[in-house]
This record gives sequence, C-alpha cells and structure tokens, in this order.
Amino acid sequence: LESDVTHDAGDKGEYRHHMLKEIHEQPKAITDTLEGRITESAVVVESFGNGAREIFEKVEHIQLIACGTSYHAGMVARYWFEALAGVSCDIEIASEFRYRKSVVRPNSLLITLSQSGETADTLAALRLAKESGFMSSLAICNVPGSSLVRESDLAFMTRAGAEIGVASTKAFTTQLAGLLMLVAAVGRCRGNMTAETETGLVTALRALPGHIVDTLALAGDIEVLAEEFADKYHSLFLGRGEQYPIAMEGALKLKEISYIHAEAYAAGELKHGPLALIDADMPIIVVAPNNDLLEKLKSNVEEVRARGGILYVFADKQAGFKGDATMRVMQVNHVEEVIAPIVYTVPLQLLSYYVALIKGTDVDQPRNLAKSVTVE
Ligand code: AGP
Repeated sequence: LESDVTHDAGDKGEYRHHMLKEIHEQPKAITDTLEGRITESAVVVESFGNGAREIFEKVEHIQLIACGTSYHAGMVARYWFEALAGVSCDIEIASEFRYRKSVVRPNSLLITLSQSGETADTLAALRLAKESGFMSSLAICNVPGSSLVRESDLAFMTRAGAEIGVASTKAFTTQLAGLLMLVAAVGRCRGNMTAETETGLVTALRALPGHIVDTLALAGDIEVLAEEFADKYHSLFLGRGEQYPIAMEGALKLKEISYIHAEAYAAGELKHGPLALIDADMPIIVVAPNNDLLEKLKSNVEEVRARGGILYVFADKQAGFKGDATMRVMQVNHVEEVIAPIVYTVPLQLLSYYVALIKGTDVDQPRNLAKSVTVE
C-alpha cells in the first residue's frame, strides 16, 4: 500500500545497549507509525489495506492472537475494542489457540500481532484460522515481507525500525498506537463511534510522542530506584483495567532481562491469594492506580506492614500521591487516559533495563531466549 519506513539495524550509537537505544527511539517510532495514517481529526481507514473499509463495516467479532509482549498489546486492545468501538473482542495466546477446538463467531476478523512476523505459534494460528471460517485476517507487524504479512488478507506495518534487543520495547508501543488507530477505524466503520470521539483519539495519539519524551526524562530517577530491586528474587506487578496488561508487560520485561521472578496480577485479585506472598523481600509495583484503588492497596499493605510490604507506585502527577515509609511514588506527567497504557509502559521498560544493568546480565541477548521464536 505504501513504502513502509525501514531502518537498517545500525549500531547502538551512543547507547550502551540496543534495548536502551530502542526505548529512546519510541517517540520517533510512534511518529513514523502515525505518519500518513491520521488527518487532523480522523484515521485513514485505507491505512489497513485495500478492502479494509468493507471488512470493518461488516465485522461483528474480533479475535486477537499473539505471543509474549505482543499478547500484552492485544490484552490492552481488547478493552479498547469493546469500550470504544463497540465490537466484541477476544485475545488468546497463539500456542493455546492453535491446539484447541474453538468456535468461530459470524463475521469474525482475525488479527495477529507480531514484531517479527515469523513466530511459529502465531503463524500456525493464522493458518488454522484461515481454514476455520474467519471472514478475514489482518497482521499488525514490524517486518515488511514477513510470513504473517504475506499470508494475511490485510496488513499494517508498525514502522518501528529494526528491533535488535530480544526484549521488545518500541515494537510494543507502536503496536498499541496502531491498535488504537484500528479501534477508531473499526468503531467509525461500524457506526459505533462519533466523529468527536475519533478526533479525541487522534489528538491523544498526536500528543503521544511528546508524552513519551517527558516520561523518558524519568530515566535518572528510575536508575536510582532500580538499586532497590537488584537484590530481590521476586516481585509482584499490579494493574487494573487497561493497565493490568501493562503490569504483565512490566513483569515480563523484568523477568526476561534481569532473571528476577516477576508476576503480574489484576489489582483486585490481591486478596484472593497473592497477598500471602507479601513481605519485605517481595516489592509490589503498582501501575497507574486511581485514588480509591491506591487506598485499597495501602490498607492491604498496612495489613502486612509488620512483614514490611513495600509499594512502588507509578502514578499520575495530578493524582497527588505522596510517598511514605511503605510507599515510593514515581510521578508520571498527566496524560489523556486512552494513551496512558502506552505511556506507563516506558518507566517499566526503564526499570527492567536498569535492574538488569546492575545485575550484569546480557541485556540485549538474555539467556535461553531468541529474538524470534520460529520454532515451537
Ligand atoms: C518480548 O520481550 C519477548 N521477546 C517475546 O515475548 C516476544 O514478544 C514474543 O516472542 C513474540 O514475538 P513476536 O512479536 O515477534 O511475534
């Protein structure tokens, strides 16, 4: 459809690791992803391929399929598709979807999310879906000409440029920017979204690169905060709503490059078990809580105060959270709610990077992992 911007792999420039360079490339990567796909007030539907409009006008259900970090992007998009586009949406891990007997609802669109476009499970899921009665397929991918792109009916390139670090960063945030554009396009084609709402989403997307630049300025503070995690063996990430998948992404980033066990939970689940884990050696990282959620969490932690539970809270500056003996607060500039999941990813990427740096692991090539999982 259009020549997608591709950057050569290049060297690390002035950065110590590809991952750090790619974290800092996110404002430009998102700008490139938006380029030519939004007007002052709307998303260009044809950005998703020829025939996209007809498909989006008919779609009644969306099935998102992905692995790893890309799966977390799909988890965020599920909230958006239902709340903003009024279309029912499921998200599933590719390696589960491909081996179970699933029911395909009428007029279902299969959307695969993948940085590499070569992930074996995701590709297998697409091939299975194409024989299972899906109306159409769309790949959101970072590598033009990859298998997923070639085998899908529609494709949307994230234009993040080559992502060398095994831990995915700019591919994730550009996937989310692309998904938010897709949610607007589908919502408008289905007649479930007003022009005003679409303009609000496009305006928020335009502001996103600048918000990420502001959030990257927290790097120094986060590097200091990382010292408190480097000697830990476990951590618990909590989030609610669209920030729950961001808690999952933060936990994945920490575990895959620092080798510290990290688990994410929907914040409302704390009392249903994980609270038993809390002690001074189990830091709790809370992503973008609102006031009443934080009060609930603080009372939870007070319950275990004798065992020293410490909260690390990444919070909206305007929410006015104050740190205390059991709570460190990292203030994030206020941003439009709809793009908050994308913005709050950045401090968690930085946290995992600086903890890994202290631990001396191989940040760009963590043990046992490959950049693209092309075998099962
Ligand atoms: C993320 O940091 C990991 N490297 C991994 O989970 C990755 O997201 C997953 O393997 C999916 O890869 P893909 O996006 O290329 O399909």
